Amino acid sequence: MKKVVISTGGGDAPGLNAVIYAVVHACYRRGWEVYGSRSGYSGFLDMDDMVQLNPRSVEGIYSTGGTILGSTNKGNPFARPVENLAGEIQIVDVSDKILNNFKRMGFDCHIAIGGDGSLQLAKQFADKGMPVIGVPKTIDNDLEATDRTFGFDTAVSTATNALDKLHSTAKSHDRVMVVEVMGRDSGWIALYSGVSGGADVILLPEIPFDMEKVCAKISDNELNDKNYSIVVVAEGALEKGGQVFNKGVGELGREEVILGGVGEYVAQQVRNHTAKDTRSLVLGHLQRGGSPTTFDRLLALRFGTAAVRLVEQGIYGQMVALVSSKMEAVPIAEAVKSRKKVDLQSDKVLTARNIGICLGD
Ligand code: F6P
Repeated sequence: MKKVVISTGGGDAPGLNAVIYAVVHACYRRGWEVYGSRSGYSGFLDMDDMVQLNPRSVEGIYSTGGTILGSTNKGNPFARPVENLAGEIQIVDVSDKILNNFKRMGFDCHIAIGGDGSLQLAKQFADKGMPVIGVPKTIDNDLEATDRTFGFDTAVSTATNALDKLHSTAKSHDRVMVVEVMGRDSGWIALYSGVSGGADVILLPEIPFDMEKVCAKISDNELNDKNYSIVVVAEGALEKGGQVFNKGVGELGREEVILGGVGEYVAQQVRNHTAKDTRSLVLGHLQRGGSPTTFDRLLALRFGTAAVRLVEQGIYGQMVALVSSKMEAVPIAEAVKSRKKVDLQSDKVLTARNIGICLGD
């Protein structure tokens, strides 16, 4: 008999509920108890936020977006901003309290579903002695040690559908459409959707772009009687010698700045240098919403059950990973040591170049 607790942290991603579904079912078949901590670690601090899960409470959720447990990217328990009686904000470390409550509640293992930030926290708790297993989530696909994170395929599919729709309106108006997609540090969404969605230009954080090259591609299209162009820009893309565009610091407790603005910048530059009608749009959180694709559902269900098998074997401090189509266990530390970048020598990048897509260099 084991008692397992699941949490979902950081930005949501399609497939979170499928992982929860898989963990709950796999645990129940073993006669174990499963709990869910709401909003990241809140359940460890407030019993009202700790919910028991069973097959009935997760019925049908494998196909739904979001997370039934809620999520947050403001909840770092090692540096939590708390307002004191004088109305001042103090940074408090509540990690010991969480660890004590974890033990007091009798849990054997914490299955932490998260991206880079949440798995960093999971690693910190593992270092403090909490038995933890990580599950790799992020639409950005930028976690090391796994070939894929769940959520990415759905985000790419949403972005590709958007590009398909933009072709007809761009063509009708002889316009340049600049689409900003998510991808803070890595251009996976931009590359996959851009290649699959017929982009003329794809700008990635991995390749600082040269506006002259971008505009030259658009002008080339004109010379070849293609009077419209589609430009896909990752939110973390930057111009050569420039900086990543951001909207400043977000909400209290959020450690990363909110990115955004590069799409409109590129659109303005294109307008100024090519005199083409140009519009920009930001796909934003649309990419995080909706039902997970079949690929993401299956991957999430595989990750969830693989995590439970690790609990059964008593293997902790590991993250379940997809490595060459197989479920593997890798140290959480490996997954969070750096962000996984697009390999510029990969065949996907070569494919983009070979079919004439400009990558801004
Ligand atoms: O990490 C995933 C991600 O979707 C990033 O691509 C994006 O910059 C960020 O989350 C947005 O976070 P928020 O939901 O706080 O706006």
